[in-house]
Amino acid sequence: MGGPIPEPFSSWRARAASYCDGREGEGGKVQRIRLSKQETTLRVSLKGENIGMDLKEWCLMGLSRVLNQNRSTTFSSTGEERYWQFKFNVRDVIRETISEDEMNSSLILFFTVLFPAFLRSAARCEGYSQIACNAEKELIDELLRYNITSSPNEFFLKVFERCFVAPLSLEGPSLDLGIGSGDASAFIFKDKQLSVGSDPSIELVLKARNFNFYERYAAIDMTCIPFPDKSFRSVLALNSFYHTQDKKTALREMARVLAPGGVLVFNDVSQMRDFRTYPDLLNRFGFKTLKQDSDEFRFSLNGKSDSFTDAAWIQDELRDLGFERVDSVPFYSEPLAQIGEFFLDFQGIFTINAPAFFEFPNSERFLKAWKKFLHEVVAPMLVQDESFCRETGKSGYLMFHAVKSGEPLPTNPKPDFVCPQCKTLLTKTNSLSSCEKCILDYPIIQEIPLLIPFYAEAYSRA
Ligand SMILES: C[S@@+](CC[C@H](N)C(=O)[O-])C[C@H]1O[C@@H](n2cnc3c(N)ncnc32)[C@H](O)[C@@H]1O
Ligand SMILES: [Zn+2]
Repeated sequence: MGGPIPEPFSSWRARAASYCDGREGEGGKVQRIRLSKQETTLRVSLKGENIGMDLKEWCLMGLSRVLNQNRSTTFSSTGEERYWQFKFNVRDVIRETISEDEMNSSLILFFTVLFPAFLRSAARCEGYSQIACNAEKELIDELLRYNITSSPNEFFLKVFERCFVAPLSLEGPSLDLGIGSGDASAFIFKDKQLSVGSDPSIELVLKARNFNFYERYAAIDMTCIPFPDKSFRSVLALNSFYHTQDKKTALREMARVLAPGGVLVFNDVSQMRDFRTYPDLLNRFGFKTLKQDSDEFRFSLNGKSDSFTDAAWIQDELRDLGFERVDSVPFYSEPLAQIGEFFLDFQGIFTINAPAFFEFPNSERFLKAWKKFLHEVVAPMLVQDESFCRETGKSGYLMFHAVKSGEPLPTNPKPDFVCPQCKTLLTKTNSLSSCEKCILDYPIIQEIPLLIPFYAEAYSRA
């Protein structure tokens, strides 16, 4: 299994290969980032706080849109409210001068022409055109065809992730957690056959279903997975683990549903917070409160931004959970991260939520400019990413790959849903999945089961 990785993606092949067979890759050592014990404790101690997404609020907002109902938003803190207000102010101030349409076309200009012009010119002077990167360009072109419009930085991340998972054999049944709107998963897991596609947000699961990429879909929270123990041979969570408020429970749940010999693949943010230009700018301009708000709430509709852990803590947790081989590979080095995050932050000012709008222009000339930027700046940077990570000992993300100990057992190819709370089998009608033990009814909307306790609560109150 696994599509061929185009040549000469050697650095990525090497990184991924060393994952797969436990040896060091041909492109150099697999770098394991370990923070000091002190820092580990510090980061882990953050876990008691309300970090990560406020999942309930986020999902119920989505549900209300799916059901065409209005639902007002509450803020988790004054910091969040202030940052939200800041974003509204930006729009209001712009509207004093130009229309909404003009604002959108200015954004396109900024994203596809102006900022890229600055970077492309710099890349020429740095001799980036000498760097062989045809394979990276090909992958970028392929990704462009997926029409992923949520954010320019997707072009940096998804290419890495695709190369990482391509050589892995992901046996079924498999569970993908946090697939979002599904377009990125279809690119990342191209040529793989995945069983269950899930996201806590019903709004996103419904979008993802349009790609018809998974066998089944469900609304699932990775901290209370509605499947029996040892159900899956592969469990995946790309760009979703770091949104959870309770990483320890998420790891425990992912380990629980994995059969012996099964493979767990997920990523987490690493030193990403240090790689953001824009909060620094705010700080340098003297807006210290907003700098802090931006660190915490840059996108969130509710709750704080992504939480940060470190590799050593996760590796230790996974070992305790019965994984025999745990590897982590750093990617998204500081230079790429700074550029990607700059786009994302800038875009975030004009949008309220994380799945920010960035409609790629239909116009040929803008697309051409955007593609040139990806080819001239991003592709050579992807090639250099490993050495950048090695030089600085830092990375924006870490990819984890872990194998659960034990002899592989036969698994049910289509595991049944259980109650996410008490794990007993659910009884099902067309519109409900019910847990007789908890006396809870989980709604089914447009044939998608919503298997998170807060959905059952919301349903019982409706
Ligand atoms: C950035 S998207 C990632 C989408 C896709 N996997 C990708 O790689 O592009 C993050 C997703 O994580 C989901 N998420 C947040 N908290 C989660 C949780 N506790 N369990 C599972 N998914 C979660 C969000 O709903 C969101 O769709
Ligand atoms: Zn139950």
